[in-house]
This record gives sequence, structure tokens and C-alpha cells, in this order.
Amino acid sequence: MYRSQKLALKYLTAAITLFGIMTVAGLMSAYYYINPDFLFGILHFNIAKILHIDTMIIWLLMGFMGAIYWFLPEEFGRELVGIKLAEILFYVFFGAVVVVAVVFIVVQYGNSDETALWFINQGRKYVEAPRWAAIGVVVVMAVFAYNVIGTAYVTGKVSGITAVLMVDLVPLLVLYLDAFPAISNMSADLFWWWWLVHLWVEATWEVLIGCIMAWSLMQLLGTSRRIVETWLYIEVALVLGTGILGLGHHYFWIGAPSYWLTIGGLFSAFEPLPLLGMVVHAVYDAGTHHMKTTNRPAFYWLMAEAFGNFLGGGVWGFMMTLPQVNLYAHGTQWTVSHGHFAFWGAYACGVLSVIYLVIQKLRSLTQVDGALWKWSFAALNLGLVGMVGALLVSGFAQAFIERAIGGSTHDAFIAGQSSPWFVEGMVTRFIFGLMFAAGYVALVWDLLTIGKRAPVLATAGAAE
Ligand code: HEM
Ligand code: HEM
Ligand SMILES: [Fe+2]
Repeated sequence: MYRSQKLALKYLTAAITLFGIMTVAGLMSAYYYINPDFLFGILHFNIAKILHIDTMIIWLLMGFMGAIYWFLPEEFGRELVGIKLAEILFYVFFGAVVVVAVVFIVVQYGNSDETALWFINQGRKYVEAPRWAAIGVVVVMAVFAYNVIGTAYVTGKVSGITAVLMVDLVPLLVLYLDAFPAISNMSADLFWWWWLVHLWVEATWEVLIGCIMAWSLMQLLGTSRRIVETWLYIEVALVLGTGILGLGHHYFWIGAPSYWLTIGGLFSAFEPLPLLGMVVHAVYDAGTHHMKTTNRPAFYWLMAEAFGNFLGGGVWGFMMTLPQVNLYAHGTQWTVSHGHFAFWGAYACGVLSVIYLVIQKLRSLTQVDGALWKWSFAALNLGLVGMVGALLVSGFAQAFIERAIGGSTHDAFIAGQSSPWFVEGMVTRFIFGLMFAAGYVALVWDLLTIGKRAPVLATAGAAE
């Protein structure tokens, strides 16, 4: 095994660990909606939510890095050029995450001054980490990009997938720099902040997961490189063609010029197209190979990624992307419904698929299957879809009662929040959240024991 692949194992383990912390923080955040007195005066909703969404970004990023560090040396046929540095930085990265989490929990907030920005919280949703840690993330990502681009340069072997990946890493990193400026004008601040959030999840991350899924499809189903690369080019062209100006769907009500209503509505309405393309691609590949695979969990998670990306990102996003609808849906639990479905479908499922592929290689399993992965697959996906459904009901209640009927007054806000539809949605979400958490436990159990458990799953080593 290459050193880079050993590093990948560390990243994937860290990712799964943070996924667990994220789930606990999610359950806590959800519980405040049922019992607002929960941990009163000790830990408020905002901190739990920050922990929830920041660990989400970090575990997914670590998952992507793990996947790429895993596939890359095989792609190049050699060790990565900056592997030593990357190995050291893994510990720096993980240590920084722990320090930031402790500061969030213990210190929580500071004054609105430079010290707070540097050491406590930058106050920008999803990228709240204080500046010192944000700089650390930039360094880690820069070394990661150097390993990809530098190794390609040294070997001179650039495949279609690595070419797309290299080009993608540049904007991905540059957009993260957007986490730094503290702009006091809220419209201007949001205007630039969306460059980070929207252009990450609806452009650069989509390209990244496209590359990772291309490698996975080749490994999982034996699809030819020519086919996956052709699809990748089409998908990337469509993602960027629709997603870049689709940014406008966040500029409707923040004080940006009104031409964004048309631009954002139009381009983002086309955003589901590449996501539909990805579903067609995955189903086509599975069909031509008669769904023959030695790794069913990886295959199912890959299919969940394709469908989840399309449904959660494409369909749920489309539902609220036209300004005529977004006027009512904006910033309600409807948004939260879409956010969960999309991040889960587009990114989390993809990372889980790669993890099963890695485990197969790691433990030299000729066949990866069993009952436990099915339980975790079912509980995680049903739990997630249940939460998404409940959130949608709560979100609709807000859109109707608070916005359409009540005209967005403060009283209407309270009426929306206290409507039985809203309240029951919040309770239902929590129950499905528990199911999701049970699925997480089953997942970890399965990952730790698969291939070591049943004699049916004879490993090549054991057979010898
Ligand atoms: C046990 C499972 C989970 C529970 C109970 C949960 C609960 C929550 C809660 C209560 C919030 C705050 C929403 C608000 O401000 O009203 C939230 C936000 C969020 N969660 Fe989760 N979550 C869970 C799993 C996940 C997963 C698996 C993902 C994605 C992979 C995710 C992604 C997000 C995102 C992106 C937000 C921010 C949404 C927004 O503010 O619009 N969550 N979650
Ligand atoms: C798979 C990729 C996607 C992910 C991970 C994602 C995630 C999210 C998240 C987390 C938010 C809430 C942001 C916040 O306020 O904190 C959001 C908002 C939004 N997304 Fe997506 N999204 C994706 C794709 C799409 C697509 C393809 C569309 C349109 C077709 C779309 C339309 C929207 C709109 C209109 C909003 C603003 C909602 C509001 O006004 O409150 N998204 N998205
Ligand atoms: Fe967006």
C-alpha cells in the first residue's frame, strides 16, 4: 500500500468520527426546537448548530481528501510528491479541529473585535472557525492541491479525470479565502459569502465528487475510462454552465440589483440537468454491467449518491429556486429540508461509497456483503428522508402561515412557529433523527467488523 493510501485511511477514519459528532450535535440542535429550555444558560442552540454544520463541512472535506489520496497513487502509479508534508499536516488539521470545537463549546463568543475574529469565531455560517484555524485549512488544502498537481507534473501522466481535478482544486481553494474578510455592510458581506457557499456546493464540490465517482465507477463496475471521462466532461460543462450564474438565486432579497431575479431564476432552474445526467450515467453503467459487483454496499451508496444528488439538490432545490416561490420559502425549514437532502445525497453518500471500496481492498475481501450494512443503509436513508419530509411540512406551514397569509410580520412569525403543523414537524424530525443516529451506530459497527465477522465473507488471506 502507498503511504498516500495510509494517509487516506487516517482521513477517512477522521471523517467517520466527525460524522458521529455532527450527528450528536444535530440531535441536540433538533431537541431545542422541542424543549427550548434545554441546556439553558450552558450551551445555546447557536453553538450546537455551529458544531453541527461546521463538522459537516470538515468531515465531508476530509472524506474527499481521503478518497483522492486513496485513488491518486494508483492513477499515477507512484507515491505523491509531497507525502511527508501531507502526513504531518493531517495531525495539524485534526488537532486544529479539536481546539476549535473546544473553544466553541467553552468560550462560545467574544466581543465584536479583531481578537474574537482571530481566536473565537468569524461569525460566517458554515465557516465560523476563527481566522488562525481558517488559515490552517488553507495551508492543508494548498498542500493537498500541491500533491495532486505536483505529482501530475513530475509523472507527466495526466488523465482526463486528474486534469479536471487539478483545474477544480484552484477555484475550490481560492473560494475558501472568502471566509476571511469581515465586511460590516450586511448586503455586501452576504454577497461575497455566497460565492463561497453556493460556488462550493453547486460548482467546485460537484466537480470534485464527479471525479471521485468516476474512479469509483471504474473500480466498482469495471466501466471503461473512456465512458466515465466522456460523461465527466459533459457533467462538468453543465454544472459550471448552470451553477456559476445560478448563484443569483441567493441574491433575490439581500439588497443586490433586481436583475438577479431573472438571472438567478433562469440559470438555477437548469441546475438539475447535470444532476439528472449523473443519474442516467450511473444507471446506464450499472445496466451495461448487469449490476455485477463484488461490493454491494459501495454500489448501493453510489446509487444513493446519484439519486440523492438529483432529488435533494436538483428537485428540492428547484422547488424553491424561482423568485416567485422563494419569496415565501426563503429561510424557512423548507430550506433546511433541501440543505439536508442535498448535502446527504450529493456528498455524504459518495464518501460512504468510497469507504466501502477502501475496506474491500484493505482487508482483501473477494466479496463485501452481509446483513448489517443493509440495516445501516436503511436506517440512515429512511431517517434522513423522514427528517426531510418532516422539515418540508414545517417549512410549508411557515411559508403559508407566516409569509403568504400573515405577510411576514412579527406576529405572523410567531403564528407560523406555533402552528401545529410546524410543531409536529419538529417532533417528527427529532424521531427520524434518532433513527438516523441508530443507522450511524450500525454503520460504524459494520465498518469495524465487515470481513472479520462471518465465515461466508472469506477473505483471500483467510482462504490461504
Ligand atoms: C440526526 C441527524 C440530524 C439532525 C437531528 C439534524 C438537525 C439539524 C438542525 C436542528 C439544524 C438547524 C436548523 C435550523 O437552523 O433550524 C440543522 C442544520 C443543518 N444540518 Fe442537520 N441534522 C442531522 C443530520 C444532518 C446531515 C446528515 C447533514 C448533511 C450531510 C446535515 C446538514 C445540515 C445543514 C447543511 C444544516 C444547515 C441548514 C440551514 O441552516 O438551512 N444535517 N440540522
Ligand atoms: C447538491 C448540491 C446542493 C447543496 C449541497 C445545496 C445546499 C444548500 C444549503 C445548505 C442551503 C441553505 C443555505 C443557507 O442559507 O445556509 C441551500 C439553499 C438554497 N439552494 Fe441549494 N444546494 C444544492 C443544490 C441546489 C440546486 C441545484 C438548486 C436549484 C435548482 C438549489 C437551490 C437553492 C436555493 C434557491 C436556496 C436558497 C433557499 C432560501 O432562500 O432560503 N440548490 N442549498
Ligand atoms: Fe445555491
